[in-house]
Amino acid sequence: MQTRIDEVADGIYRLSTFVPEIAPPAGFTFNQFLVMGEEPLLFHTGLRRMFPLVREAVARLLPPERLRWIGFGHYEADECGAVNEWLAIAPRAEAVHGHTGCLVSLNDLADRPPRMLADGEAIELGGGRRVRWLDTPHIPHGWDAGVFFEEASGTLLCGDLFTQAGDGPALTEGDVVGPAIAAEDLFGFSSLNPGMGATIRRLAALSPRGLALMHGPSFAGDGAAALRALAEDYDRRVRAAGGRAMPAVDA
Ligand SMILES: [Fe+2]
Ligand SMILES: [Fe+2]
Repeated sequence: MQTRIDEVADGIYRLSTFVPEIAPPAGFTFNQFLVMGEEPLLFHTGLRRMFPLVREAVARLLPPERLRWIGFGHYEADECGAVNEWLAIAPRAEAVHGHTGCLVSLNDLADRPPRMLADGEAIELGGGRRVRWLDTPHIPHGWDAGVFFEEASGTLLCGDLFTQAGDGPALTEGDVVGPAIAAEDLFGFSSLNPGMGATIRRLAALSPRGLALMHGPSFAGDGAAALRALAEDYDRRVRAAGGRAMPAVDA
C-alpha cells in the first residue's frame, strides 16, 4: 500500500491511500488532509493500522511532532483510530471536535483532554488561516458528526459526505454528486433523517470553492451547487422512505 500526496488547495495536502480490496472491483480510498499553518491541523487520523503509512506521508511535508491539531468528522476507526498514536508523537497536539464528540467519546478515549468546539466556533492555525467547526449531527452518520470549513481557501473538509468508490484523480472539476449517489446506493452508509437536506444546505450557504472528500477525489468548483444537489437527493430518499424532509433553514 502506498500513500500519495497532492496539494489540493493552497496549503492543504491530501494524503490518499487506495485499498483495492474494499468495494471491489472499484476499490476505495482513505484520505487525510494536512492543513498547513503555524499550528498545523491533520483532519482524519487514518486507521490505527495505517498509522505508520500516514505518519511517513506527513513526515514528507513537515516533522510530525509539529502537528498542533488532530481533527476528524465522527467517531469511527478510519476517522480517528490513530488519535492516540498522533498524540503520542506530537507533544503539542490536541484532538479537536464538537461538543457531542468530546462529551460522548474523546473525553474518555483520547490520552489528553480534547479541545471542544461549539457549532460555528473556529480555531486559528496562524498566518491568517482559520478552520470553523460545523455540527452536522447524524449526517452522513454519527450523533457527533461535523465538518471543518477552511476559510482562506474556501475548502470544506467534508469527511464522508460525497463518499465514492474507486481511485480517481486527486483533484477534479467534474461531477462529484453522481458518484456519491451511486455509493449511497451501494453502501447505504448514511443515516437517513428528516434534517439532512436542511443541514447540507446550511453547508452550501458557506459557498465553498473546494470540497475535500475523505473517500474520493477533492473537488474544485461550485461547492454550493454540489451540496444542494446532494441535499436534493437525500430529501428524495427520505420522502421515498415515507418521511417528510424538514424545510431548509438557510436556503
Ligand atoms: Fe464514517
Ligand atoms: Fe470515513
